[in-house]
Amino acid sequence: MTKFTKIISSGSYLPKKVLTNKELESRVDTSDEWITERTGIKERRVADDSETSVDLAYNAAIDAIKKSGINKNDIGAIFLATCTPERKFPSTAVLLQNKLDIKDAFSFDINAACTGFVYALDIAKKYIESGQIKYALVVGTEKITSLLDWTDRNTCVLFGDGSGAMILAASEKPGIISSTIGSDGSYKDLLTVNTDLEYIEMKGSDVFKTAVNTLGKLAKHTLEDNNVGNDELDWLVPHQANERIILAIAKKINLPREKIIITVNKHGNTSAASIPLAFDEANSKGIFKQGDMIMLEAFGAGFTWGSILFRY
Ligand code: ACO
Repeated sequence: MTKFTKIISSGSYLPKKVLTNKELESRVDTSDEWITERTGIKERRVADDSETSVDLAYNAAIDAIKKSGINKNDIGAIFLATCTPERKFPSTAVLLQNKLDIKDAFSFDINAACTGFVYALDIAKKYIESGQIKYALVVGTEKITSLLDWTDRNTCVLFGDGSGAMILAASEKPGIISSTIGSDGSYKDLLTVNTDLEYIEMKGSDVFKTAVNTLGKLAKHTLEDNNVGNDELDWLVPHQANERIILAIAKKINLPREKIIITVNKHGNTSAASIPLAFDEANSKGIFKQGDMIMLEAFGAGFTWGSILFRY
């Protein structure tokens, strides 16, 4: 039985079209100033009509596979997080597997809204450490703008499209040190896509408060339970929903701004894609060094939440 799992590469993809706050001013009663001040978002990407969450995932996956140096046919499983599947079924993971032309693997989707990628990492880790697979492709992909009511200023300014991916491998040493996931369905109506309306409805300030409380505690416990002092943490790569949420959590664990990867200004909230997108953007710049202690954490509709602590 393999003991540990490590992240060996990352990849990402953003659709070409940039939608700025200024452009949103002409669609709804909002302002660049309001959006920037309340969320930190300046712009986001929007996929065009012909692009699906599978197309976005394909580009991110190809990028991660290329950088990993492994043969795509060594991938034993694809775990794909999305809440904007291309079809109701087959799963987006299976459609991606087909597009990548990977034959000898199993694939399935995970829907935990914005926490989906952390859930997918947790599952991939367990399959690898059981010895069932050696390499996993883990993807977060969203065409979340397809769920927006472009007349609702409370939600349409917050989200963007994109995809991120990682290759995970069996390893003799960590790797992933801890993985925690949780959920509480009693919050189901605070952030939801109702099947009749099919667009995002949100009680923003309730989501904000619960996100800060839950993630603050989760970050603290993740570090304490693994005897990692906040001074030993090199990087926090949080879910990118709102810069104020991110900074409030950092304050709770006394983490300086310089140790936090923030991309929400350019991507908006890309739901399950946000963590691997932020991670890959920093990784591509060579910001992470081998052996760095990194924490990922996410919060999403459900509510769902999760954290991953690992050495890179
Ligand atoms: N432009 C201008 N005014 C706006 C806009 C906008 N785009 N959106 C809302 N407002 C108005 C509201 O109508 C309200 O006006 P009112 O007082 O006249 O009723 C006022 O701004 C204040 O609204 P609040 O909701 O109190 O503003 P708040 O400071 O809480 O910021 C925000 C709103 C940005 C949505 C914040 O609550 C937030 O970020 N919440 C969490 C959202 C989130 O992270 N969602 C996803 C997390 S989980 C996941 O990723 C799936």
